[in-house]
Amino acid sequence: MVKGLVSLRFPMAKDAERFYEILNNPNFIYFSPVESLEAERRWIRGTKKRRQQNIEWNFTILYKGEVVGGVGIEINYHRPYTGEIGYFVDEKYWGLGIASEAVRLAEKMGFEKYGLERIEILMQPENKASEKVAVKNGYLKEGLLRNAIILKDKRKRSVWLYAKSKEEYLDEKKGRKQRGNAGRPERN
Ligand SMILES: CC(C)(COP(=O)(O)OP(=O)(O)OC[C@H]1O[C@@H](n2cnc3c(N)ncnc32)[C@H](O)[C@@H]1OP(=O)(O)O)[C@@H](O)C(=O)NCCC(=O)NCCS
Repeated sequence: MVKGLVSLRFPMAKDAERFYEILNNPNFIYFSPVESLEAERRWIRGTKKRRQQNIEWNFTILYKGEVVGGVGIEINYHRPYTGEIGYFVDEKYWGLGIASEAVRLAEKMGFEKYGLERIEILMQPENKASEKVAVKNGYLKEGLLRNAIILKDKRKRSVWLYAKSKEEYLDEKKGRKQRGNAGRPERN
């Protein structure tokens, strides 16, 4: 159970080296590698502007205060009430529930602070860990988007589309609250 041990903050310049190290893992087979440390630094410098323009909300994932990955919500340019969540975690920390908790924290901000009505998560069908993160967070599979993404090396990829609406998010939240109160004596 990593709840309480995972937190998010906006990326800082000093995260560049860790991000570069984490993302250049050859086992990140569904991800294109980052070109250079300088490219990573540039990307981090741009995060503030992208937030101010409501283009993308990026966060550094901290586990017990250490940088272990990133999560972001990209806002749909034409439909700014729809966002897409993406994530990565250092391989050394896989399987602890960190990405799932990071998605839970990011979606809360998406629905409660950034005005989203719908959040999507896309992944290649072979990326079972990523799919599990979506499923564990209650996202519903809506279908296969054929050849929807083109990777940096020009390979076309089909991806599963998972999504959650704000209504579903609020229902879950209400359910959690009610379950949290179960068993407590009723007040008169
Ligand atoms: C996808 C990723 C972020 C998951 O991070 P994580 O912190 O390990 O995720 P969680 O621990 O919250 O959940 C992963 C779940 O997938 C499961 N899983 C991992 N590999 C799996 C596989 N090959 N088949 C089925 N399930 C798998 C884990 O057991 C875990 O489920 P559990 O909690 O029921 O045991 C991480 O693997 C990663 O960074 N991958 C590279 C980048 C990437 O692909 N990002 C997603 C792009 S869409």
